[in-house]
Amino acid sequence: MKNSANQFLKPITTKINEKNHLEIGGCDLVNLAHEYKTPLYIIDEATLRSICKDYIRAFEKYENVQFLYASKALCNLAILKIVASENFGCDVVSEGELYTALKSGMKPEKILFNGNNKTFEELEYAVESNIGRFSVDNLTELSMLNEIAQNQNKKVSIFLRINPKIECHTHEYIKTGQEDSKFGFNMSDIDNVIELIKNTYKNIDIKGLHAHIGSQIFETQVFKDEIKILTNEYERIKNKYDIEFSEINLGGGFGVKYTEEDEPLSIYEIGDVIASTLKEQIKKHSLKNLKLYLEPGRSTICTSGVTIYTIGNIKEIPDIRTYIAVDGGMSDNIRPALYGAKYDAVIANKMNSKDTLKTVRVVGKLCESGDILIEEIKLPNPKKDDILCVFNTGAYNYSMSSNYNRIKKPAMILVNNSQSDIIINRESFEDLVRNDVIPKRLENK
Ligand SMILES: Cc1ncc(COP(=O)(O)O)c(C=O)c1O
Repeated sequence: MKNSANQFLKPITTKINEKNHLEIGGCDLVNLAHEYKTPLYIIDEATLRSICKDYIRAFEKYENVQFLYASKALCNLAILKIVASENFGCDVVSEGELYTALKSGMKPEKILFNGNNKTFEELEYAVESNIGRFSVDNLTELSMLNEIAQNQNKKVSIFLRINPKIECHTHEYIKTGQEDSKFGFNMSDIDNVIELIKNTYKNIDIKGLHAHIGSQIFETQVFKDEIKILTNEYERIKNKYDIEFSEINLGGGFGVKYTEEDEPLSIYEIGDVIASTLKEQIKKHSLKNLKLYLEPGRSTICTSGVTIYTIGNIKEIPDIRTYIAVDGGMSDNIRPALYGAKYDAVIANKMNSKDTLKTVRVVGKLCESGDILIEEIKLPNPKKDDILCVFNTGAYNYSMSSNYNRIKKPAMILVNNSQSDIIINRESFEDLVRNDVIPKRLENK
C-alpha cells in the first residue's frame, strides 16, 4: 500500500545540511531560530499539500467526495487558504473559526458547522453567511436553526450528528462516539427528529447522518462499523418514512505518527476501506449513491508542523534525572499535560552528532510541575542555547495554546522551497494587555 505523509515522524522535506543542521522546506532551522526567535511554530507547505493530494487521490475511486479540513486542528488565514486551494472545504465549531474561514476566502458553500452547543448568534451568523451544511447535534439547536432559517426565508441543509456507540481504542478525552458522550443524538432519538423535520421544521432540509467516532485512530474496523451502522439506518429510514438521504458524513479521526511506536494507517488504505465498504453497503441496502464527506483535521496538518525551542536551564539531580528546560512549554503545547501525548525531538544544531546520548526530561518554563513536553528522550549531550526541534506539532498545538503565566504566543512561519514567511505574528506585550481594563475608580489609588 502506498505511504502517505501522515505516517512519517517528520515533514517530507526534512534534511540534514552540510553544517549538520536540520533543514525543513529548504530552511536551516538554526537560522530560522535566529531570524524569528524561539519558540517558533514552523509549517512545511509541501507536506501539507502532499497530504491533501493524498486524500484526493486515495478516494478517487469513490468519485463523489468532499473533504472538509477540521479547522480546529489549526485555524488561521494562510492554512485555510492552502487547504482551499487543494479543493478542501472546512468544518468549523465556533463563530471564530467561521469568521476566520470566511475571511480566508473559503467558499461559504464549502463550510460545515459542527458543535454540541452552538449559540443562537452563531447559528444566525452562519445562516446569514449561507454556509453549506450544519451538523445538527441536538433538539435545542434544531429548533433554533429552523427559527433562524424561517426569519431569513431560507431552507438550510443539515446532517444529523448521531452517536453510533462505537468504542475505538484511543485516549478517553479524544473519543467521541462511545455511549457516554456529550456529542450527538442517540440512535433512539432519530425517529423523533425525522418526524419533527417532516412535520414541523419546514426550513430544514436533511441530507443525511453524520458521526465522528474519535481521534488518532489506527484501525480500519471502526470505520467499517461506522459505515454499516449509518447505512443500516438509511435503509430503515427509507422504508419507514420514504426519505432517501443523499449524503453521508463520516467525520475525521485518522491517526498520525508522533513517535516510532505509532503506526497510523496510510491515507490510501483508509481510502480503500471506506470507499469499498461504502459501495458495498449502498448496494446491500439498495440506496442511491451517497455524496461522502470526511473531516480530517489532525492527519491533514500535524506532520507538516514542528516547534523549535532554545534550551535554557539544565538541572541534574544525581541518580534521579536530568531536566532540560526550554523557552516554551504547556502554553504552546498542552497535549502532554492534557492527555499524556508523546513527542519525538532532536537537537537541530547537532544532527549526526557523535556526542554521547543522554536520557533527559524536556520541560517548559511555566509554573506547573506538569509542564512536561517529553517525559524521557535521548539527546546528544544537550547544552544551553541548543535548538530543540519537536516534531508533529501542527495539530492541536497552536489552536490549544494559551497565555498562561502571561507567556506571549509564539509566531508561526510557513516554509517552502527555501523561503520562510510569517503566517502568525508573535504576540507582543501590547497584545497581552489589549483586553485588560483598569476601572476608573482604581485609577488614582
Ligand atoms: C466532528 C469532528 N470532526 C472532525 C474532527 C477532527 O478529528 P481529527 O483531527 O482527529 O481528524 C473532530 C475532532 O474533534 C470532530 O469533533
